[in-house]
Amino acid sequence: MQIKKSVSDIQRLKQSSKITMVTAYDFPTAQVAQQCGVDMLLVGDSVGTNVLGLSDVSQVTMRDMEHHVKAVGRAAQESFVLADLPYHSYETPRQALKNAALLMTGKADGVKIEGEAEIVDIVRFLSGSNIPVCAHIGYTPQLSAGKPQVQGKDAQRARQLISGALALQQAGAFLIVLELITEQIAAAITQTLTIPTIGIGSGPWCDGQVLVMHDLIGMTGKSFKHVKAFGSAREQLCQSISDYAREVRQGTFPTSANASTIPPEEFAQIKKWLDEKGLTGNAQTL
Ligand code: KIV
Repeated sequence: MQIKKSVSDIQRLKQSSKITMVTAYDFPTAQVAQQCGVDMLLVGDSVGTNVLGLSDVSQVTMRDMEHHVKAVGRAAQESFVLADLPYHSYETPRQALKNAALLMTGKADGVKIEGEAEIVDIVRFLSGSNIPVCAHIGYTPQLSAGKPQVQGKDAQRARQLISGALALQQAGAFLIVLELITEQIAAAITQTLTIPTIGIGSGPWCDGQVLVMHDLIGMTGKSFKHVKAFGSAREQLCQSISDYAREVRQGTFPTSANASTIPPEEFAQIKKWLDEKGLTGNAQTL
């Protein structure tokens, strides 16, 4: 029997094993990731740049997120589904709760929001309303236009990150994503908090890691320092599509083996009917 991972299952992993998270935006990818034993599926607002062709994540809407969360939710019988609240969808506690509830109805198991001190009240309100909340600190794509900047390179910013993480934990966050934070400061946050940390571009000392699916399978054709492409999906896809197009043009696909037939006695009736109507088509030659 499939058992859905809960908040406490995820939190317990801090003591025992690394937590694995990947983005998933659709049903089949979510199914495969779950089949591969991934603990958490993130329906990230990175759907905007990876799937919807938008130039940045701040253009992603609640409607986009609801659509993709529902698709992933249908597949995720075991993996925990975390969904991003998109830009401008959690500006007040009431707005955050309304939108988080919509994503939870679409079968998210928790929501993620970006920010540090400025989101503490929202985190407190959501977790007080029984919505599991993950905070996302460090480099925050919704809030920082332009080139991604590594965070925590000086003592002042490092102190701010550590205090922010503690305040978010105290406000009720069950998990925290650390994006592009220097590895020593990510390690310090991980050791200081009792809740798990999930790193992306923040070194190996976090309690778990997240990568964008399209980056890790080699679909984007882009390379980033924090990413390792574990496959070459773009080339493989291109090879399969080119092979298909070539065979269609050559007439080697499809063959009769890929089609179904009408029984001869039924087809004889059709031939006769075509003859009677004076319609001679390809059917006569079959
Ligand atoms: O939307 C996303 O993919 C994310 C990850 C980068 C953590 O927020």
